[in-house]
Amino acid sequence: MTARHLTPLDRLLDGAQNALETVFGSARPERPTPAAGHADVVLDDADRRHAAGLMRINHVGEVCAQALYVGQAAVARDPRTRAQLLAAAQEETDHLAWCADRLEELHSRPSLLNPLWYAGSFAVGAVAGLRGDGWNLGFVVETERQVEAHLDEHLQQLPPADGRSRAILEVMKADEARHADNALAQGARTLPPPIPTVMALASKLMKTVAYRI
Ligand SMILES: [Fe+2]
Ligand SMILES: [Fe+2]
Repeated sequence: MTARHLTPLDRLLDGAQNALETVFGSARPERPTPAAGHADVVLDDADRRHAAGLMRINHVGEVCAQALYVGQAAVARDPRTRAQLLAAAQEETDHLAWCADRLEELHSRPSLLNPLWYAGSFAVGAVAGLRGDGWNLGFVVETERQVEAHLDEHLQQLPPADGRSRAILEVMKADEARHADNALAQGARTLPPPIPTVMALASKLMKTVAYRI
């Protein structure tokens, strides 16, 4: 890890590059998709649309996770925390790419509102980050736990024949649990109320909208 001094402009440019890659889908995965090896069963139209709606939500969830982490990293004071946040964002890149690929297979597309989701989450991340590094990690834990919970719901709700989407979500769920555990081990503080509730409400709104748009 190099500890070079970053000017505010460096940080802004880093953020802008991540935003473009995340929102416009040029993110490249490091691991192959867990869907490989699962037959691409042709779903009937209702099932296909339902699966696509769920995978669009998961894709938006990953856009938000990236933006939160990059927003937090932009204001993090400790270079180690900053590096750790950027590494977490990098690991989410696989999830983002896998969800995008699956959406394409389902003849669908990512959310049209992704630039908005990204901007909102970046702002939330930056505000959280200004409160200090324990808070930063606390946000990571809360985000990952909430994502893990909705992945569980989606695993129940996916059409039974959609083994490819299910395989992706299983691996994502295991990764998110690990991300939360890592942040806890690094000294995350527990976020006080009402922050977890507000985050859950925002995520509920996101899920309702992203299923359709
Ligand atoms: Fe993720
Ligand atoms: Fe994660």
